Amino acid sequence: MLKQKASLVTQLKTAMANILLGVTGSAACFKAAACASQLTQQGHHVQVVLTPMALEFVSALQFSCLTGVPAISHDDSQTDPAGMEHISLAREADLMLVMPATANTIGQIANGLASNLLTTLALVVRSDIPKLLVPAMNPDMYAHPAVQRNLKQMQSDGWQQLGPAEGPTACQELGAGRLLEVDDVLKVVAEALS
Ligand SMILES: Cc1cc2nc3c(=O)[nH]c(=O)nc-3n(C[C@H](O)[C@H](O)[C@H](O)COP(=O)(O)O)c2cc1C
Repeated sequence: MLKQKASLVTQLKTAMANILLGVTGSAACFKAAACASQLTQQGHHVQVVLTPMALEFVSALQFSCLTGVPAISHDDSQTDPAGMEHISLAREADLMLVMPATANTIGQIANGLASNLLTTLALVVRSDIPKLLVPAMNPDMYAHPAVQRNLKQMQSDGWQQLGPAEGPTACQELGAGRLLEVDDVLKVVAEALS
């Protein structure tokens, strides 16, 4: 009976997870929209945070419509000091997912740099939540020693790397660098939350 109750609590917690979805400036941004939509349909509260470069590829409004939660790209703490979004959003998260993750954002997070709201949040999230990273980039960028070094650093800081897949990338090149398919990402998110 107690076991059943515990499993029900776990299911409810899973169903109502607060997911922080970071979207960075990649040609694969549109796939994050599909992911945000699916996670919302699964019952999660999905807070999307876009880097300024991501806004060149997709709109905050698009994500707000898909999730029902206003997507944001900057901290309005300067105009509303009571907001302190970089603290409150990070504290509320049950899982952080960065998808797609550019070489630039990977480098920033790996080195503890906080030049935008997303990279700032990555420094503030609780250390005990699952942190998932889904890289997408040109195969040569992905293979570069600096990128590999940064990815290793993120893994040792507690990030789980998903992918990349091999195949044609947006830049029409073949190799490892392609964003993992949305369904595969969703499976890992579900596992991480359970
Ligand atoms: C059309 C286009 C596509 C890009 N796609 C990628 C990509 O898939 N992966 C990547 O690491 N950088 C990509 N970039 C470069 C990033 O947008 C650039 O490094 C940017 O500074 C990333 O900023 P952010 O990490 O703050 O979003 C692309 C740039 C352009 C113009």
